Amino acid sequence: MARKRKTPSSGGTLLGDPVSVIAPLHRTKRVEVDSRGEVWFAVDEAGDEWVTKEVSGANLAAEILSWHLARAIGVRIPHGAAVVPHDGTTSWATRTIPNALHWTPSLGEVVDPVDAAGVLVLDCLIHNGDRHEANLMWTPLKGGKGLLHAIDHDLAAIGDVEEFRDLVVSPPPRLSHAPGFPYSRAASAIGRYVDATNALSRAQLTAYVRDALDWAKRSDKTAEHTDTVYNRCQAIGSIVAQYLKEAGVSS
Ligand SMILES: Nc1ncnc2c1ncn2[C@@H]1O[C@H](COP(=O)(O)OP(=O)(O)OP(=O)(O)O)[C@@H](O)[C@H]1O
Ligand SMILES: [Mg+2]
Repeated sequence: MARKRKTPSSGGTLLGDPVSVIAPLHRTKRVEVDSRGEVWFAVDEAGDEWVTKEVSGANLAAEILSWHLARAIGVRIPHGAAVVPHDGTTSWATRTIPNALHWTPSLGEVVDPVDAAGVLVLDCLIHNGDRHEANLMWTPLKGGKGLLHAIDHDLAAIGDVEEFRDLVVSPPPRLSHAPGFPYSRAASAIGRYVDATNALSRAQLTAYVRDALDWAKRSDKTAEHTDTVYNRCQAIGSIVAQYLKEAGVSS
């Protein structure tokens, strides 16, 4: 019988709730997008809508850890959940963002620089070189404005401590963000996210890493992985500055 925990409401405890766990989902329609694997729209027993993909090991750890960190520093990310295995596979699911569109270059002029700064700091934190236009979702609002959401972090280096520890003070590859990403406008708003990242405690980070590595079946690496993530959080200001400098922007 599948374990089922209530979806946490916003906020959570100081140490963060573990990622929710949902029972196998009923697939409704395949997502038509050029992707490395199959991505499906699905519904759970309660009728809630999700987007789900099969993922395991370091890739699943990267999704879960990035999700915790995004929430902890205040970056908009859809609610996420691990899907319990039913045939030996695990999946990552995020609640479907209603009316969401992929990023297009012209959004660089209208996106809230605070939202863009959040995504930029998150990507520097998790060492994500995969922020292309289909991994930045945009929900249009009235008056030409809209909300930016970050999705798809399974390729971030943070999921694999062997890879991540060698990159611990390196920014993501130069210009990893989608065409039109407003590096310069984002630079003016990074401060609050850098401060929030610096303030993450070792206890909080241990809880996030433990949750991710339990799912990835790599619990033996929890202490080393937590140290590496903690060191990166402390270095985030200079990592972001270096990434922005490579994009031709001073912070
Ligand atoms: N929560 C969501 N709400 C709405 N659409 C989503 C959501 N999550 C994913 N999608 C859609 O599904 C597409 C693929 O999802 P995702 O980026 O997670 O997988 P992927 O690209 O196959 O992953 P990978 O890069 O690992 O191959 C997204 O580009 C987007 O169009
Ligand atoms: Mg993707």
